[in-house]
Amino acid sequence: MSLIPCRSNYKWSTCYRYFLLMVFLLLLFRIFMYSENFRSVFSGSFLLSRNEVHVIREKDEEVILPPKDCDLFTGKWVFDNATHPLYKEEECGFLSRQVTCLRNGRRDSLYQNWRWQPRDCSLPRFKAKLLLEKLRGKRLMFVGDSLNRNQWESMVCLLQSGVPLAKKRLSDSSSESVFRIEDYNTTVEFYWAPFLVESNADDPSKHSILDRVIMPESINKHGDNWKGADYLVFNTYIWWMNSANMKVLKQGGTFDEGATEYDEIERTAAFGRVLRTWAKWIEENVDPNLTSVYFISMSPMHFSERFEMTLNVDVQMQMQMQN
Ligand SMILES: *[C@@H]1O[C@H](CO)[C@@H](O)[C@H](O)[C@H]1NC(C)=O
Ligand SMILES: *[C@@H]1O[C@H](CO)[C@@H](O)[C@H](O)[C@H]1NC(C)=O
Ligand SMILES: *[C@@H]1O[C@H](CO)[C@@H](O)[C@H](O)[C@H]1NC(C)=O
Repeated sequence: MSLIPCRSNYKWSTCYRYFLLMVFLLLLFRIFMYSENFRSVFSGSFLLSRNEVHVIREKDEEVILPPKDCDLFTGKWVFDNATHPLYKEEECGFLSRQVTCLRNGRRDSLYQNWRWQPRDCSLPRFKAKLLLEKLRGKRLMFVGDSLNRNQWESMVCLLQSGVPLAKKRLSDSSSESVFRIEDYNTTVEFYWAPFLVESNADDPSKHSILDRVIMPESINKHGDNWKGADYLVFNTYIWWMNSANMKVLKQGGTFDEGATEYDEIERTAAFGRVLRTWAKWIEENVDPNLTSVYFISMSPMHFSERFEMTLNVDVQMQMQMQN
């Protein structure tokens, strides 16, 4: 399946979904702000305690954080053309063609003006410098499918707006793309692993194969590359939507030979096995004192109009998983 979010034959909802993803990421980073390291960034300037309104001075600009116990996940999207978009598509040279909606011919731009508004508090306005300070000397890594690659690209654009003159560059290796900001010794990385576990679709440029086969218990080959990141943001979603059953490599099989032998098992059963493998990897390889781990579950998709019908499958899947 090809995933083109914003072609000229878009539907309004298509790019809108993509933009929701971007905004969700922002939300995620607001949450990062509450991790214990935040104190050290602004050491001495305030004490964190529940229900307190926090004020941080950053070059004479006030950043007011909502109370720590505010539920940031309960809220709604609001139209806000005063503060959004946070960056303009043409101002970010790091976007892939897949996600440059305006350049691809989309005529309206209102989809960029949505902001997440928690019900019981307000989020501070995004400030790239503040986030960069938070990420100084750190590795932030996104792992997963093309939805998470979107998140990564948005994050790169958000951050690079804060360092217009700094040395920053994007490098690609086979499975990994690394955005490096030298002044901050920060890397923002994306690792392509659409099923998290090993599969025959792990080549980022040659993954559009008919028979996608996974190895639900096999994760170390990818996982070795995730070690030592300070923030890990995982997802695996979009490729589970294609069929009710998943193809699982037979015991002892490999992808190296021509004919790949597989069993077909129910999708939810396969998903459970993959998540267990992933969780075990986290437990065995991540020190929670050093690394924060996030898992983005179901999220808006960036299908173009042609793939709208797949959304029905999406809804079925959600219902299955809630049961
Ligand atoms: C923002 O939206 C309002 C209401 O739709 C409109 O009146 C206003 O002109 C817009 N402002 C900008 C800068 O686009
Ligand atoms: C840069 O950050 C890495 C961690 O990502 C750290 O190991 C290294 O010591 C840092 N280098 C400098 C010069 O601060
Ligand atoms: C994390 O830190 C706490 C408190 O400092 C300590 O008790 C715990 O052993 C640490 N955990 C690991 C996995 O190092």
